[in-house]
Amino acid sequence: MRSTTPVVPGHTFDPGTFGEPSDVTQVLDTTAAAAFHGDADVRAALDTIITRLAAAQSTLDGARPARDGGGETLQSWIDRSTAAKGRGPIYPYVGSGIGRGPLVELVDGSVKWDMINGIGVHMFGHSDPGMVRAALEASLGDVVMEGNLQFNAESIAYAELLVAEASKRSRLRHVFVTNSGAMANESALKVCQQKTGGAPRVIAFQDCFMGRSTTMAQIGDSAGGRVGIPLNAMVDYMPFYDPNLGDRSIEMALWHLDKTIARYPGQHSCFIFELVQGEGGFNTAPREFFVALMERCHAAGIPVWDDEVQTFGRNTEMFMFDVLDLGEYIDVVAIGKMSQACAVLYTEDFAPKPGLLSGTFIGSSTAFHVGRAALSRLRAEGAYGPNGRIAALHAAFREHAAAFIAAHPDWFPPAIDEFRRPLPALFGGTGGMCRLTPFGGDKARIVRALDILFEEGVIAFYCGHGPFHLRFLPPVGVMEPAHWRPVFEILERAFARAHAEA
Ligand SMILES: Cc1ncc(COP(=O)(O)O)c(C=O)c1O
Repeated sequence: MRSTTPVVPGHTFDPGTFGEPSDVTQVLDTTAAAAFHGDADVRAALDTIITRLAAAQSTLDGARPARDGGGETLQSWIDRSTAAKGRGPIYPYVGSGIGRGPLVELVDGSVKWDMINGIGVHMFGHSDPGMVRAALEASLGDVVMEGNLQFNAESIAYAELLVAEASKRSRLRHVFVTNSGAMANESALKVCQQKTGGAPRVIAFQDCFMGRSTTMAQIGDSAGGRVGIPLNAMVDYMPFYDPNLGDRSIEMALWHLDKTIARYPGQHSCFIFELVQGEGGFNTAPREFFVALMERCHAAGIPVWDDEVQTFGRNTEMFMFDVLDLGEYIDVVAIGKMSQACAVLYTEDFAPKPGLLSGTFIGSSTAFHVGRAALSRLRAEGAYGPNGRIAALHAAFREHAAAFIAAHPDWFPPAIDEFRRPLPALFGGTGGMCRLTPFGGDKARIVRALDILFEEGVIAFYCGHGPFHLRFLPPVGVMEPAHWRPVFEILERAFARAHAEA
């Protein structure tokens, strides 16, 4: 019998709902592996660790400053990191190795609300008993990494889950699992290129981001990401949806697409869609915008590749293409981040020929087991759907953000877009992707506000290319709507300091 352990203040989860022995080994009961995983002493040892974890994390119940005394200081760790990497980190963040849902402890004993989670990786926050149990179970295996030549049952179960979810409302049928979002995108590009007989050009949206391999850095619309990189990718950029223009924006995008296709007939291997732009600023667009462009692509024989590395798992459906009901149009999709391992899924028609996709590693057994546990739990615990926990968390964010802006108009002057018009809203995003636009979207002021926020006890980040926004990727699996209150209280203290400095 396992105990029901409080995960974060006000939220309980039974860590026994995932990870029965058969779930881990996935093999015949008569194997030695099944005997080991099911051994009563082994199970009891895991239960003990989870119980002791709950005791150790019980003191973490809100943000707190650094503590005096003890071993090596935070600054010393930062210096060591800087020396090893040759450049300093963005934040003085070094985790101690424990947390409690949305709360994380750093090596200096400080505790912070983690609203960015490694840029959207830890959907159950820190030290979640269920995730720790899944990681412990996977660590009982014979190897750490699984590969394309030799793999265990765990990576197969993980791949099957992705295909089962993706194929519900799309033509996607197969998956190649890999170990970074950039590599999933590289694989997606190769699959599209092979399908189109080596067509050399790609179409991408302005402000897109796709990772930092040499090709993805060239396609991603950020000059800083390709400094010093010889340019050999041929990219045609398209305007993304402009909420100030509404339907006119759709007309203009179609006009651009038609011109691009006419300029280079038969030359495009794909149009790469980020259905919510992540690094680009949590920019959203209505279904009609994408349908119009995707239909045009299909008519011209241009594959539709959906980059869901940032959107996957954290919106009101597991795939953003399902949120927007676009499944029928998608030929290839890449996922990553919260899934722990990354992957590219494709239709029967796009299945690669032998030799196109492989690699030594596909990922660690722990990543597969924790990733599958996270996705299974989100699904089982009602995270998805219009009334699910993710929708409720986003609605609560909007409520807090609207009240916050109304209470502090001085901190929220209009944010002006590149056509010199004010943004229609100073908060937004979708699902577990939340943005707030203080200080007119000025980058320097937002970066300074983030530093102060970190000191005060909230970890966030920025996104956009101007106006800039404060970006939150909260741990949607464990964060409760009520947790926004302490987060916004800290925002209030931090913004008051940032405003006073300006
Ligand atoms: C939309 C998108 N695609 C690809 C990537 C690259 O993923 P990774 O950093 O795992 O290579 C990211 C990372 O932020 C992303 O947001």
